[in-house]
Amino acid sequence: MTISIARQIVLAARPKGKPQLTDFRLEETAIPTPASGQLLLGVQYLSLDPYMRGRMDDRKSYAKPLQLGEVMTGETVAQVLTSNHPAYAEGDIVLAPTGWRTHALSDGTGLRKLDPAVAPVTTGLGVLGMPGFTAYAGLRLIGKPQPRETVVVAAASGPVGSLVGQLAKLAGARAVGIAGGAEKCAYVKNELRFDAAIDHRAADFPAQLAAACPHGIDVYFENVGGAIWQAVLPLLNKFARVPVCGLIAQYNGPGKGDGTDRLPATMREILSKSLTLRGFIYNEFAEEHYPAFLREVGAGIADGRIRYREDIVDGLERAPEAFIGMLEGRNFGKLIIRVDA
Ligand SMILES: NC(=O)c1ccc[n+]([C@@H]2O[C@H](COP(=O)([O-])OP(=O)(O)OC[C@H]3O[C@@H](n4cnc5c(N)ncnc54)[C@H](OP(=O)(O)O)[C@@H]3O)[C@@H](O)[C@H]2O)c1
Repeated sequence: MTISIARQIVLAARPKGKPQLTDFRLEETAIPTPASGQLLLGVQYLSLDPYMRGRMDDRKSYAKPLQLGEVMTGETVAQVLTSNHPAYAEGDIVLAPTGWRTHALSDGTGLRKLDPAVAPVTTGLGVLGMPGFTAYAGLRLIGKPQPRETVVVAAASGPVGSLVGQLAKLAGARAVGIAGGAEKCAYVKNELRFDAAIDHRAADFPAQLAAACPHGIDVYFENVGGAIWQAVLPLLNKFARVPVCGLIAQYNGPGKGDGTDRLPATMREILSKSLTLRGFIYNEFAEEHYPAFLREVGAGIADGRIRYREDIVDGLERAPEAFIGMLEGRNFGKLIIRVDA
């Protein structure tokens, strides 16, 4: 059967707090025809990432907000269906910034060829893609873990956190993961081989975290913010480093009963312990460090030193529901949509 209709998901409304299904709209369009110098891409897999929540708001940030009616931003693995471009042939598999859609035209800008013989192509969206590189760059270039130091990371079963902890272990440090629920914690400890995993939903979470870090925390890789930051702050050692990578607990706005102002305590600890907090967006390091990342993490995956987990959901139409779930911790591993182009 030849498919003649393309589908896409657009931003229908700006979310107020938690996104709702009605903030997204599935549309059907004609499959576009590539002009000279262009490619037609058929999307196979769509990556869902926390940063997309920020794009839905009309707010100044490091990237432009989406306009209402615009296709949701996103990286995908796509196959070249038709090529009028000298550098690509029909059948090539590429990483492409197509957004949430089944088909897209491209002039080659921002494409990277993937070799399915090297690693499963979905890894290009996770452990061997943007999230993996974020972990690698933030930990290596800002966190700089030393042997026997303690490294703590939250969202530890996700694509960023899981690699942070494993790279910390490979550097000779202790890795303590924070995750939501017993199943994720068991995976972080047993499969990813962190030294400890703590459930942030436990009533005595701060006490459990302190017990898992008897020598304090030297590197806290910040993925979450909110109440987790509050528990981490008193445990930071003198000269601790905090790569500030993400604040997912704040992306939907302040949660119920979470209006605490942590700024005075944070500033006091920064001063009294000579802490280094450094925010970053992965792409500021990409040009210089991406090849080394692909080489090192690729080799770690090939020989089993580095493990990863993907959470693959079928059907473009399920992307909104899966995305909303990710912001509530319902994904378990790198969240990817299998798109039936
Ligand atoms: N700076 C950069 O360049 C850059 C690049 C990529 C990603 N990031 C950031 O890195 C972080 C992790 O991203 P990822 O791609 O690896 O995604 P991810 O781990 O799949 O993120 C979703 C996870 O975050 C946790 N979470 C969600 N809401 C939470 C809350 N209120 N409190 C505590 N945990 C919560 C949940 O895990 P649990 O169930 O375990 O809590 C959920 O499964 C995000 O903050 C993201 O924005 C930054």
